[in-house]
Amino acid sequence: MRLDKFLSHMGYGTRKEVKILVKSKAIQVNEAVVKDSSMHVNELKDKVTVYGDVVVYKEFIYLMMNKPPGVISATEDSREQTVIDLLDEDVRHFEPYPVGRLDKDTVGLLLLTNDGALTHRLLSPNKDVPKVYYAKVEGVVDESDITAFSNGVILDDGYHTKPGILKVLKSDSISEIELAITEGKFHQVKRMFEAVGKNVVYLKRLSMGLLELDATLAEGTYRELTEEELTQIQQKNDQA
Ligand code: URA
Repeated sequence: MRLDKFLSHMGYGTRKEVKILVKSKAIQVNEAVVKDSSMHVNELKDKVTVYGDVVVYKEFIYLMMNKPPGVISATEDSREQTVIDLLDEDVRHFEPYPVGRLDKDTVGLLLLTNDGALTHRLLSPNKDVPKVYYAKVEGVVDESDITAFSNGVILDDGYHTKPGILKVLKSDSISEIELAITEGKFHQVKRMFEAVGKNVVYLKRLSMGLLELDATLAEGTYRELTEEELTQIQQKNDQA
């Protein structure tokens, strides 16, 4: 890979900015001062330093975000704040994007990555990756809804959903539930409740496959996945 591409990917600025670093003799490859920013490096074997700091190559980034309400799951938008706007520059240069979408008012687990193969595997409709949501629902959610969801419900556009596993945590005028589904149709959870005549007033995603939202992550914050979480999310894919 070209040195300027390597360093841009790792967050050292544009190719033009890398050229300036080269001019000021800030960069070394295998202990030799670099003269040409277009030189090629082996990103896994060569020792690249900038002002003496070793740059360890990383191709992919995997972030877990606790999405706050009021931001959209897109990479850019002319009017709305996006989840990417919440990221610091030290991760943004990897150009991550959200894996799937949560509605603007939905909170909770959102995975962001630049790993296209993983994204594809997670979102592929025939993979059946279970997603668990917690919701507050207007109206008494009861046994009849559990049965309806277990058979799949008919959405407003006539689509018959796959079965959902509904757990009622509180059955009251505002009920609290957990719902596990394997699909990701537009507004799916809200529309599944509409199909049984009820209205979701709060929605939070708790998990995706084996990856669970870190309960210590405040809304609007994120962190990189641990090695263990990364293995889990990869494994789930391969089994599915
Ligand atoms: N289902 C919804 O209705 N909204 C979401 O954001 C996610 C699932």
